[in-house]
Amino acid sequence: MAHRIIVGISGGIAAFKIASLVSRLVQSGNRVSVAMTPSAEHFIGRSTFAALCGEPPVLDSFDARFPLGPHIELLNGADLLVIAPATAHILGSCALGLADGLIPTLYLQAECPVLMAPAMSSAMWSKPAVQRNVQQLREDGVRFIGPDSGWLSCRRVGEGRMSEPDAILEVCMSLLGSKE
Ligand SMILES: Cc1cc2nc3c(=O)[nH]c(=O)nc-3n(C[C@H](O)[C@H](O)[C@H](O)COP(=O)(O)O)c2cc1C
Repeated sequence: MAHRIIVGISGGIAAFKIASLVSRLVQSGNRVSVAMTPSAEHFIGRSTFAALCGEPPVLDSFDARFPLGPHIELLNGADLLVIAPATAHILGSCALGLADGLIPTLYLQAECPVLMAPAMSSAMWSKPAVQRNVQQLREDGVRFIGPDSGWLSCRRVGEGRMSEPDAILEVCMSLLGSKE
């Protein structure tokens, strides 16, 4: 069965891997829309997602294509919101309930399951503030995958590496399967 999936991409180096996730979700027959933060665009271009999804990604809360706001129109009828990579900043905004950008606003509007795949340096990931935010989001019903341990772009090996797209895909399928 085809599902409606919103993928929110925030500004971590792991954003480049999300093209593969989006492609796989589309190939499975799902309708996928992408929302990106301005920081995410430093790591991967909007044209990649326009081509993969067949529609341009949304980067702005005031996108003229969505007179009611992309947070309303994209989430209407959505089956799953995936935020990957989820930066420390996005985790904080969502945990605090701050609608201070497109992706946190999508999170607050979501009535479907939300899956987050955090990615950051091991130093950031181990900070009590980040762990508090993750704990809060878990208590609020958010599903998490990762982060894994492994090579980090800061040239260290440690915890903070985003889970691989295949693993994220598997959790997406399981969350969508349990809706049917
Ligand atoms: C090269 C580079 C890599 C970064 N990687 C990460 C990352 O993996 N995780 C993270 O939380 N922040 C990372 N940052 C910092 C975020 O880009 C920064 O906090 C930004 O404000 C996040 O914005 P967003 O959450 O709205 O996308 C990185 C910054 C740079 C310059």
